[in-house]
Amino acid sequence: MRKINISLNENYEDLSMAVANRIAAIIQSNPAALLCLAAGDTPLGALRALVDIQAAGHVNLRNVWYVGLDEWLGLGYQDKGSCAQIMQDSFYGPAGIPLDHVSVFNGLDPDTAIQTTQALAFITAHGGITLALLGIGMNGHLGFNEPGTSIDFPGGVVNLAETTRTVGTKYFDKPFPLERGITVGLRNLLAARHLILMANGEKKAAIVAACMTTQPDSALPASWLPVHPGFELYLDRAAASGLPDQLIKHA
Ligand code: GLP
Repeated sequence: MRKINISLNENYEDLSMAVANRIAAIIQSNPAALLCLAAGDTPLGALRALVDIQAAGHVNLRNVWYVGLDEWLGLGYQDKGSCAQIMQDSFYGPAGIPLDHVSVFNGLDPDTAIQTTQALAFITAHGGITLALLGIGMNGHLGFNEPGTSIDFPGGVVNLAETTRTVGTKYFDKPFPLERGITVGLRNLLAARHLILMANGEKKAAIVAACMTTQPDSALPASWLPVHPGFELYLDRAAASGLPDQLIKHA
């Protein structure tokens, strides 16, 4: 079994602080870093902690660059629960990030080719992604790189898996047709210098264990992470509970 760099934390608060401190350290050593940040529930604590670390004067989040990981097609900032709304209201806004330092998908733009081109050009213009902060879907997806996605997929529009459409309703207080998404692709994620996967809660234990213990397999997109030299896995105890002892004994 491949050795994985694991940070094991008692609870969500400790996990969030550990991830925030790691991101702050990466920013401190890469003043022109490009961060690719997942929305979703998992990273919110870490993103809030990062804002606090900046307020305490220990990091400057305003000089680095950001590309949004993904978005639901058909939803924009005005839709509560969209990735754009979550990230703006919980991170970019409170952190005071200049608008021109952020590239996010506009899920309302019918010209999805332009949206894709803009995001991928932003990544290229900044020399690739320095750090991707990822959550894991219940089916092992990363962003909207669903099971079956090729590792050569640069990014663009995807049809959402049934699990993603069902689980995705948790973000919204009214029904939306969740059929397609737009995402940074596995090719650009796996070319990042640092990859942090963050997971908490017992509900993630089985999929984390499945992806971390198998050989890389397109059926489980997160299973490509352990072969990446810059991969770091941040878990709370509940999310780590399915991992074999030999994987976590040094954590
Ligand atoms: C969502 C998003 C991902 C996110 C993942 C986990 O569908 N497309 O970017 O990281 O699934 O979400 P959560 O953190 O809410 O569990």
